[in-house]
Amino acid sequence: MRPSTLLLTLTSTTLTTSSLLRPRQQQLCNGRADFCNRIYSNVSWIGTHNAPFIGTADPPDPRVNQEKTVPEQLDAGIRFLQGQTQILINGAEDAGPLSELYMCHTDCAIYNGGSLRSYLTTVKNWVDAHPDEVVTMLLTNGDNVDVSEFGDAFNDTGMDALAFVPATSPAMLQIGDWPTYGELIASGKRVVVFLDYGANETKVPYVLDEFTYYFETPFSQTDPTFSQCRLDRPPNGSPDGRMYLVNHVLDKQVPLTDILIPDHEADFTTNAATGNGSIGAQVELCEGIYGRVPNVVLVDMFDRGDVFTAQDALNGV
Ligand SMILES: *[C@@H]1O[C@H](CO)[C@@H](O)[C@H](O)[C@H]1NC(C)=O
Ligand SMILES: *[C@@H]1O[C@H](CO)[C@@H](O)[C@H](O)[C@H]1NC(C)=O
Ligand SMILES: *[C@@H]1O[C@H](CO)[C@@H](O)[C@H](O)[C@H]1NC(C)=O
Ligand SMILES: *[C@@H]1O[C@H](CO)[C@@H](O)[C@H](O)[C@H]1NC(C)=O
Repeated sequence: MRPSTLLLTLTSTTLTTSSLLRPRQQQLCNGRADFCNRIYSNVSWIGTHNAPFIGTADPPDPRVNQEKTVPEQLDAGIRFLQGQTQILINGAEDAGPLSELYMCHTDCAIYNGGSLRSYLTTVKNWVDAHPDEVVTMLLTNGDNVDVSEFGDAFNDTGMDALAFVPATSPAMLQIGDWPTYGELIASGKRVVVFLDYGANETKVPYVLDEFTYYFETPFSQTDPTFSQCRLDRPPNGSPDGRMYLVNHVLDKQVPLTDILIPDHEADFTTNAATGNGSIGAQVELCEGIYGRVPNVVLVDMFDRGDVFTAQDALNGV
C-alpha cells in the first residue's frame, strides 16, 4: 500500500469513528432525559383511577371517574392507567365459552366502557405513535377470569408484542433489578401490565401479579384529609421489596344509604399538589412511614387540581 493510500484510509476511518461518537439528539424517556437512567421502580406516576370510565364531572356523573378520554389522558401526560374488567356473555354477565372481557364499573349494566380489546387497541395505537414513552396498565379481574382470556385479548390486539416480560420470568424481578426507562424503550417493551388477581406468569408472562410487585393503601376513602397511608393489600403483606400505590380517590356517602359515590366536586382540592387533603400532603405522610415516595398515586378527574406538579414533586424534578 502506498503511503498516501494508507493516510487516506486512516483519515476516513477516523472520520467514521468520530461521526459514530458524535452525540445524537438527546434522548427523552417519558418526556425527560434523566428518566432514561432511572429504573422503573424509582419513578412515580399519577395514575388515572378507572381510566376508561368517562363522562361528565359537572354535573357529576357518579358512574364515571374521568372526564377526558384515554388518548386525552395520555396526551396530557398520564402514564399509568387503571381499569376494571368484568365478563359479558351475550350481553349478560356470566363466564362462559363465548364470553368477552369488558371495561365495566362494578356491573356492566351500570357502566360499560367498551371491550378490553378496544381499550387495549386504544392504548396500543397511542404507544405505537409515541416511541419514547412507557405506559403502565393496571387491570382488575373482578370476575376472576382465567388469565389466558387476558392473554387472548393481548394477542388479538398485538399488545403482547409491546408488553414487558421480566428477565427473571416467571420468578419475581426484585425491586432494585428493574430496567431503566431507557432500557425499556430500547427493548421496545414499553407497556408494563399488572393484574390484581389471577395472574399466572407461567401461562401469560407479561401479565404481572400486582401484589407481588406492589402494595396498596385502602380504596373507597371518605376522609377528605387522607390522614392515613396504611398497607391494605396484600393482606398481611410487607412493604419491603414492593413498590406502592396510594388510592388518593375521595368518595362520599349517598345520604341515608351505605352507597359510596365519587366526590367529584372535591377533586379540585383532593388533586391539589399541596395543602390539606392534597396529593402532596398524603405523599408526605407516606414517605414518613415507608422512607420512600409512592410509585403511583391514583386519582379521579386528573384534570382537576394540579396532578403534574404533584408528580414532579414525587420524582424530585
Ligand atoms: C399468545 O400468542 C403466543 C405467540 O403466538 C402464544 O405462545 C401464546 O400461547 C398466546 N397466548 C394466549 C393466551 O393465547
Ligand atoms: C399456572 O399455569 C401453569 C401452566 O399452565 C400451571 O401448571 C400452574 O398450575 C398455574 N398456576 C396456578 C397457581 O394456577
Ligand atoms: C383539613 O380539612 C378538614 C375537612 O376537610 C378539616 O376538618 C380540618 O380542620 C382541616 N385541617 C387543617 C389543618 O386545616
Ligand atoms: C427514588 O430514589 C430516591 C433516592 O433514593 C428516593 O428518595 C425516592 O423515594 C425513590 N422513589 C421511589 C418511587 O421509590
